[in-house]
Amino acid sequence: MTDTADSPKPNDDNLWDRIGGQDRVDALLEAFYVRVLDDPELAPFFKDTPMDRLRRMQREFFSTALGGPLTYSGRPLAHVHHGLGIKPVHVQLFVEHLLATLKDTDLGEDDVQRIYDRIHIQADELIGRAGGLGG
Ligand code: HEM
Repeated sequence: MTDTADSPKPNDDNLWDRIGGQDRVDALLEAFYVRVLDDPELAPFFKDTPMDRLRRMQREFFSTALGGPLTYSGRPLAHVHHGLGIKPVHVQLFVEHLLATLKDTDLGEDDVQRIYDRIHIQADELIGRAGGLGG
């Protein structure tokens, strides 16, 4: 329908393989959580978090979001983050760290943007509708 011959059509079909699959995502997550846990605004949220489980869940989550083979088996994001006191400013910092992590790689700008979009789109669900954090 909106077929424009002169603009390259983003092809997301091979995103997972193109970015380097599981090895790439594992490296990204590793670098990402170094940044998150190094941020004094964010670190306190994770002080009682079993990081092994979180890493496992994020592996699945990213795989599902980016077209990889693993299926997310964790809890719904709204449920997981409910009552932790996460405010929009924290979500903002969190996704900024994700973007910085992505930009710190040799991934092309388009793929950085695609990955960021696919994860970032979940942020609304996280805070809950009508801004109701409930705690
Ligand atoms: C787009 C943004 C985010 C995504 C996609 C995301 C994704 C996830 C996933 C998949 C889990 C694992 C769920 C499970 O164990 O079943 C998780 C857990 C967690 N997230 Fe997030 N998250 C986001 C933002 C944030 C922010 C902004 C914070 C805090 C500032 C945060 C703090 C936590 C904590 C503390 C846990 C562990 C909870 C627990 O084990 O009880 N997350 N997140």
